[in-house]
Amino acid sequence: MTKTIGLICGSLRKNSYNRIIAQSLAELDDSYQFRWIEINDLPLFNEDLEISVPETVTSFKSAIQDVEGIIIVSPEYNSGIPGVLKNALDWASRPRESAVLSRKPVGLIGATPGGLGTAFAQLQIKQVLEAMQVHVLPFQKVLISQVHKKIDPDQKVLTDEQTKRYLQKYLNQFIHWIDHIPAID
Ligand SMILES: Cc1cc2nc3c(=O)[nH]c(=O)nc-3n(C[C@H](O)[C@H](O)[C@H](O)COP(=O)(O)O)c2cc1C
Repeated sequence: MTKTIGLICGSLRKNSYNRIIAQSLAELDDSYQFRWIEINDLPLFNEDLEISVPETVTSFKSAIQDVEGIIIVSPEYNSGIPGVLKNALDWASRPRESAVLSRKPVGLIGATPGGLGTAFAQLQIKQVLEAMQVHVLPFQKVLISQVHKKIDPDQKVLTDEQTKRYLQKYLNQFIHWIDHIPAID
């Protein structure tokens, strides 16, 4: 059966480089289905809202449940995780008995016009996901630096062949990971 992979972008910016990279995954390989899981409508996390959970949160959590795995493609802000992404992950972690990301296979990709490819943000995102008992794809990293030189901003497509090859390899490893995540409880 065709696997469906959810794509979460850690940037809300209309012309986000990270969104272009995420979209390019879907264009690289049509053996899988890709589905955007949007985070822009989520309210700021507040435990008071858990008394009557907003519809946007419920749909966000269902969207996570409906896919076999998720790839997060995120920028780095001030050497860390963008607030909007952390907010979304906090919603996904609550309440504990319906923590929809728990045991879910998740991959991490990041792109920046800078030189360090979002390495610091990825460390922080990994730390947060581990706290949520997410099965983050181990060992592999996709750190895309100088991203503005690797895309066509008008067409909003990835043009750099080497980056395409890295992404294809990562995708293959991620699919393998979905099928082989450890059965640890
Ligand atoms: C508040 C803020 C902080 C930033 N901090 C970093 C940073 O620590 N490291 C980095 O590589 N880029 C940093 N940047 C630059 C982003 O990488 C750049 O704006 C990028 O285009 C954002 O991703 P997007 O194109 O997907 O929206 C920062 C940008 C903003 C707005």
